[in-house]
Amino acid sequence: MGKMWSGRFSENASSLLDEFNASLDFDKKLYEYDIKGSLAHAKMLNAQGILTDEEYRSIVEGMAQVLEEIESGKFVFDISDEDIHMAVEKRLTEIIGEAGKKLHTARSRNDQVALDFRLYVQAHNEIIRELILNVVETLVETAKAHADTMLPGMTHLQHAQPINFGYHMMAYASMLRRDYERFESSFTRNNLSPIGCAALAGTPHPVDREMTAKELGFDAPTLNCLDTVSDRDFALEMLFNIATMMMHISRLAEELVLWSSSEFGFVTLSDAYSTGSSIMPQKKNPDVPELLRGKTGRTYGNLVSLLTVMKGLPLAYNKDMQEDKEGTFDSVETAEISLTILNEVIKTMTVNKERMEQACKVGHLSATDLADYLVEKCGIPFREAHFITGRAVALAEQKGVDLSELGAEELKSIDGRIGDDVVEYLSIRHSMNARNSQGGTSTQRTLEQIETLQKWLETKRG
Ligand code: ARG
Repeated sequence: MGKMWSGRFSENASSLLDEFNASLDFDKKLYEYDIKGSLAHAKMLNAQGILTDEEYRSIVEGMAQVLEEIESGKFVFDISDEDIHMAVEKRLTEIIGEAGKKLHTARSRNDQVALDFRLYVQAHNEIIRELILNVVETLVETAKAHADTMLPGMTHLQHAQPINFGYHMMAYASMLRRDYERFESSFTRNNLSPIGCAALAGTPHPVDREMTAKELGFDAPTLNCLDTVSDRDFALEMLFNIATMMMHISRLAEELVLWSSSEFGFVTLSDAYSTGSSIMPQKKNPDVPELLRGKTGRTYGNLVSLLTVMKGLPLAYNKDMQEDKEGTFDSVETAEISLTILNEVIKTMTVNKERMEQACKVGHLSATDLADYLVEKCGIPFREAHFITGRAVALAEQKGVDLSELGAEELKSIDGRIGDDVVEYLSIRHSMNARNSQGGTSTQRTLEQIETLQKWLETKRG
């Protein structure tokens, strides 16, 4: 059988054209959405009197067989069919005859592909959101168990101020909550049905776009058909949302790589999610976080690639737009497996509390607290307090101890205004808990943040 569009052609397509032009190899992933979309379209055509009951019934039965053939692997994908839309329709017509040829009434591949692809993006938006919730839940659980586990908070990767590990986990939970909300808002904005737009201008057939929209789970039909068949914003938003989320994940991944090194030793990744070296028998490598970090790059590439494909295209459909799918599939698959494995890595890692707390004794983390003490308790202006604290740090360095390990007498020898109560102020835990402002690191504030996110999780889990 020749091409479905071969009427005006007198020569057969070259096989080189088929190889270059066809999208079937990758868009066959859309089969279930293509069939679902066709069934909704057929139901509407029947309700509008464009298909008889008999024709509609045979389309439903024929499509069930096509679906079964695809899912059982019996379906023969022939690249000369070009894409999934024509492959499915051709097989349907082979099975049911004449009625199959009526399915494409009031429809074009332009609105058909816009529909199938949007259904795919919306379905995976929901899957990704569920996976994000799982990770947020794990981060919150980890935070709860470690709201009192101290570690050095850093800026410039240098010890800065003591924080707790739960607080650090809650920073990532907050990022992922924003990611979730970005996916959610994209879902809502794009939950509109393209079907019934036909090639670009609508159709003279009396279609009921409200009906197909409802049938397919959309909130309403799109407004303007010319825009609809030209629009890939829904995919671009998905790509941007994934890229941003992967950027967040890559930062956590980087910290996991650092923390699991012998230099830090803050966490131990479970054997089940670590790998060995082919030559060095002693090695245990953090391949999973490294790959999470590495895979982030391709998700940026996929976003820039589709933005570039869409740039400067005249309305409406152009074949360039067939390039929208592979990158989107790749980003979606990358996001889904990344979220799934990240969740397992965090759940199964061991948090080395002692190592973290030991590290807090390096870098004079409570120096700011001494300056604050001098201001608050001794009425010393901050600039002077800063200088006195510098002297105290120098003394600690000279003695080879951390500032928090100096005794009251030693500190008093630097400035007579310092009292005995200074020792308590310089303890690392006191320093952490002193940061009790809203959103701060104190255990109390951390627990408050945990509670807020737990409540949020409950509303999203429904
Ligand atoms: N395979 C095409 C794509 O993925 C389907 C739409 C083709 N439409 C057309 N007018 N050639 O974009």
